[in-house]
Amino acid sequence: MTPARFITFEGIDGAGKSTHIAVVAQRLRQRGDEVVVTREPGGTELAEALRELVLTRPMDSLTESLLVFAARRDHLQRVIEPALAAGQTVLCDRFTDATFAYQGGGRGFDLGVLRTLEQWVQAGRQPDLTLWFDVPAALAAERRAQARAADRFEGEDLAFFERVAEGYRQRIAAAPQRFARIDGARPLDEVQRAVLAAVGLEP
Ligand code: TYD
Repeated sequence: MTPARFITFEGIDGAGKSTHIAVVAQRLRQRGDEVVVTREPGGTELAEALRELVLTRPMDSLTESLLVFAARRDHLQRVIEPALAAGQTVLCDRFTDATFAYQGGGRGFDLGVLRTLEQWVQAGRQPDLTLWFDVPAALAAERRAQARAADRFEGEDLAFFERVAEGYRQRIAAAPQRFARIDGARPLDEVQRAVLAAVGLEP
């Protein structure tokens, strides 16, 4: 059995990560891995209810941060930790790097408070690998404009997403060995090859 891995996918809205998660899951299952595909905020009934609130209701940055970490706590306890303990691979669409990028970078919320919440909620748990889809904020905005209606984050301006991207870069600088940078501005098939290589699969 291949060892359990916790792999997360990050990037600003419109970076294109969601398409690739399904392909990675399919390829890992083909070779016999047990795979759980999940997302944040979300992944449990409670966390999905919190997601709905975070994405639609006006609230201040502390409330927003507390809700995403409350959702994360439930998700870790009910889904992520049991799956890893059972030897399964967990593919998660966003995790705590998104909190540092969106609440920390985008909203300008206190990083020290986020670090404290991270310690309380995760008790040392970190992803084994994080794929960061790096796309210029302007290109991501073009892609979003062609997609569906914007939620509370997707409706933010370019400057917000520049700050989110900077939030990701700071997070990567603090733990570079955990991250694989994927150039999300490349054509889809090239991005897909890079994604498969990053998780250790043949293209
Ligand atoms: P996203 O993952 O992009 O889902 P979809 O593809 O369905 O739009 O949307 C989740 C949004 O939540 C995204 O705009 C980033 C935001 N978010 C935070 O602000 N903080 C967090 O900790 C997480 C996990 C997400």
